[in-house]
Amino acid sequence: MVVKVSVIGLGYLGATHATAMAELGHEVIGIEIDSKKLEQLSGGSIPFHEPGLEQAFSRNLSSGHIKLSSDFASLASADLHFICVGTPQRQGSDAADTSYVVSAAKALASHLRPDSVVAGKSTVPVGTAAELKDVMSEIAGFEVNLAWNPEFLREGTALEDSLRPDRIVVGAWNEHSVGVLKTAYAPILNHGTPFLVLDVPTAELVKVAANAFLATKISFINAMAEVAEVSGADAVALANAIGYDERIGNKFLRTGIGFGGGCLPKDIRGFMARAEELGVGSAVDFLKDVDAINLRRRDRVVELAKQELGSLSAKRVTMLGISFKPDSDDLRDSPALEISQRLAKAGATVTVHDPVSLEALAEKDPSLGREAELIEAVREAELVILGTEWKQYREADPELLGSLVAKKTVIDGRNVLDVARWQQAGWKVIALGRSIENA
Ligand SMILES: NC(=O)c1ccc[n+]([C@@H]2O[C@H](COP(=O)([O-])OP(=O)(O)OC[C@H]3O[C@@H](n4cnc5c(N)ncnc54)[C@H](O)[C@@H]3O)[C@@H](O)[C@H]2O)c1
Repeated sequence: MVVKVSVIGLGYLGATHATAMAELGHEVIGIEIDSKKLEQLSGGSIPFHEPGLEQAFSRNLSSGHIKLSSDFASLASADLHFICVGTPQRQGSDAADTSYVVSAAKALASHLRPDSVVAGKSTVPVGTAAELKDVMSEIAGFEVNLAWNPEFLREGTALEDSLRPDRIVVGAWNEHSVGVLKTAYAPILNHGTPFLVLDVPTAELVKVAANAFLATKISFINAMAEVAEVSGADAVALANAIGYDERIGNKFLRTGIGFGGGCLPKDIRGFMARAEELGVGSAVDFLKDVDAINLRRRDRVVELAKQELGSLSAKRVTMLGISFKPDSDDLRDSPALEISQRLAKAGATVTVHDPVSLEALAEKDPSLGREAELIEAVREAELVILGTEWKQYREADPELLGSLVAKKTVIDGRNVLDVARWQQAGWKVIALGRSIENA
């Protein structure tokens, strides 16, 4: 059954969700208040890099399955509204800034009918939905059907994750909301995808709890890396060995420069801030260590660069990869970006190579050098750092790159290089969490 849906906020989450809804056969109206973004989207292009998304989005735009507007009045005929606006970290605080969600909800409220359903997809502090429900109901003049439907997509595989999720989680106050969401997701549920109906606070918590767990797993292995570095042990081999235990598992257990992006860092900080407000700050105090371990990995790379180069002044450093993960150009809280900026601040001449993120970098920090050709990027480098595990770097020819650099030293910040092959080509390989013997 075709459902008329609106998607409010067309960033990473909303543009993907609008496309997924259209792919499922629904009629979609997308609302975006950033006029530059809306103009780009209206021309059929996605303002960020996400494999496969632009083709699917523009196809649905051309066929009329997706319509776009900045005017909330144009969503009045929709039966189901998804709130997908941002919840960044608040300036000067760890807490999540929910002001975008509040203002989107307020703008939406006056266009609702008593049978309309609103589903929040943004990641919010537990308790936000209950507050929004009161605010919206007061404006609408009736009790709004609000549900929370957190999103688990991963950038890089966002559309695929939206169309084939591990599970769909819905927190709702009434059956009507659950029924409408079930109808919208029916084509996915027909494949046997679990549909979990929970109370609203649990649904809100599922998302932050999942991200807190994932962040903890990464910081756990990076804490082991710190120990390995001073004891002669090898954290890569250690991760592999403990990962065989199926209670532990080997996913998200790769030691390196740690996590970043628009979700994990701000979500664990927002979680700590909310727990503190609720009087249970000590319950998630460990997340402070998770955050600190993660940030210490960035310090470690800067320290290693200084050890290798002595003073950083005017030293030529090449950063391979600047996005927080491969297959994305998202630079939000990217470890490679922070390391590059710190090296540049200490006097190094940093040249960044990245298969897709140089345009985003030019906007975010035009002061860093950018080079689109890998061969040119490493030419005359005195230190190469692998910051994002793009396939292209894993497959790069160390002989060829070695013939171009001034000094064959590489810091593998993601533990993806074939160490023996690079060493055979004459490189000194320094890897996080490993004590590698170099000739
Ligand atoms: N990016 C991800 O991988 C991901 C995954 C799961 C959940 N989330 C969550 O989804 C939410 C959105 O994240 P994002 O990465 O898409 O952020 P984003 O900043 O890329 O997108 C948010 C969009 O909302 C728009 N917006 C803000 N206020 C608006 C309003 N009142 N009306 C209409 N549009 C408005 C902004 O202009 C922007 O385009 C966050 O809560 C995030 O934690 C993100």
